[in-house]
Amino acid sequence: MGDSLSGLFEGYREGFALPGAVYKDPAIYELEIRHIMLRSWLYVGHQSLVPERGDFFLSEIAGESVIIVRDGQGAINALLNVCRHRGSRICDTETGREARFTCRYHGWTYGLDGSLKAAARQAEGFDKSKWGLKRLQLRILAGMIFVNFAEDPPDFEAFAREMGPPLAPYGLDKAKVAHRQNYPIASNWKLAVENYCECYHCQPAHPEYSVAHGRAVPRAECDVALAEVMAKAPSVGLTQDHVNRSWLQAEQFGLEYSFDRYPLFRSHLTGSREGRPVAPLLGSITGYDGGTTDLHLGPMTFGLAYCDHVVLYRFAPRGHYLTDCEITWLVNGSAVEGKDYNRADLIWLWDVTTIADKSIIERNQAGVDSRFYEPGPLSPSMEPFTQQFLLWYVAAMQRITGGGLPDRRPVANIRKTAEGRT
Ligand code: FES
Ligand SMILES: [Fe+2]
Repeated sequence: MGDSLSGLFEGYREGFALPGAVYKDPAIYELEIRHIMLRSWLYVGHQSLVPERGDFFLSEIAGESVIIVRDGQGAINALLNVCRHRGSRICDTETGREARFTCRYHGWTYGLDGSLKAAARQAEGFDKSKWGLKRLQLRILAGMIFVNFAEDPPDFEAFAREMGPPLAPYGLDKAKVAHRQNYPIASNWKLAVENYCECYHCQPAHPEYSVAHGRAVPRAECDVALAEVMAKAPSVGLTQDHVNRSWLQAEQFGLEYSFDRYPLFRSHLTGSREGRPVAPLLGSITGYDGGTTDLHLGPMTFGLAYCDHVVLYRFAPRGHYLTDCEITWLVNGSAVEGKDYNRADLIWLWDVTTIADKSIIERNQAGVDSRFYEPGPLSPSMEPFTQQFLLWYVAAMQRITGGGLPDRRPVANIRKTAEGRT
């Protein structure tokens, strides 16, 4: 690996933003895709999107298209959307129901489990069993489907073991998708993740969010309110536990996760225009404790769990200057639209917030593209989670550009300077 690339990461200063080159160098992007994205557990959608045999949806990341489909045995499969004959895309419908997938190029036909069913006029002795669609590793936690492109992915069981219990009261395996929407951002993926991980920008950019969400102020200013929420949590069926395996706290690279409560202010019960419920209570939750939950689910998915709905953010690079930000709104599976919830009210907060973020992030990209951009200092009280993301990223890239793989918990070799914070 080139010295200039590894030098870029060896030279990172803790407490500061990243240098501009990491947002625009195609060689760095390709390393990130190969060694970070394609080795990580990636949320692709909720199981309620594929309730019946043959139901499918497509999920795309970095030019790779995956068919998520329920087969005749009731299992959900992740099939690479690349024909085993001469490589054509097979399916280009975003969602639907099929009995089989037929490649329109020369007619090879595959079953819902990816097995090759028909290939006309092949040589004698052609063994169909060797030419099924490639399958990705797939696991489900609380109804959320995760895939991994690696043959030896990090152990998902640790994730299920630690995150399953705190998520259980939300009953997400019985939830349904009320709305799903993509907000493509014309920026490098890291700027989108950096933005999601801090709330320094919330006061100026998100008045709708900041009016009631404790993340909009430094954590120390939420201590009393959070203690009240945690005292009340068990009485509504929520846990007092938290989980922190985010970024460098993760045991395994590619499986970063956390479950972290914080308070809502001004008597808001949930994330909505007036703070009033916008859907029936989820799962076994019996009331509102005045808090919400930040979720980190694999390195590229984040979320908020309110007592009446859950919002999941899936970030996925499409190119080094284009990032999908796909949001899933989950409600109780028995809730009926128009009767139990109104879609416009349900999505209002995170729709308006994400539209604002898209604009901020795109302007951030324009600025870091300047030849004169220099990384500036982070706010210790308002950007600690973004700092953790940057340390994790730099540690991974130090390993990758040094010729290794970040397959275990990477440790950053960070330059500490007089201007640095440590
Ligand atoms: S490329 Fe699919 S059948 Fe030929
Ligand atoms: Fe934001």
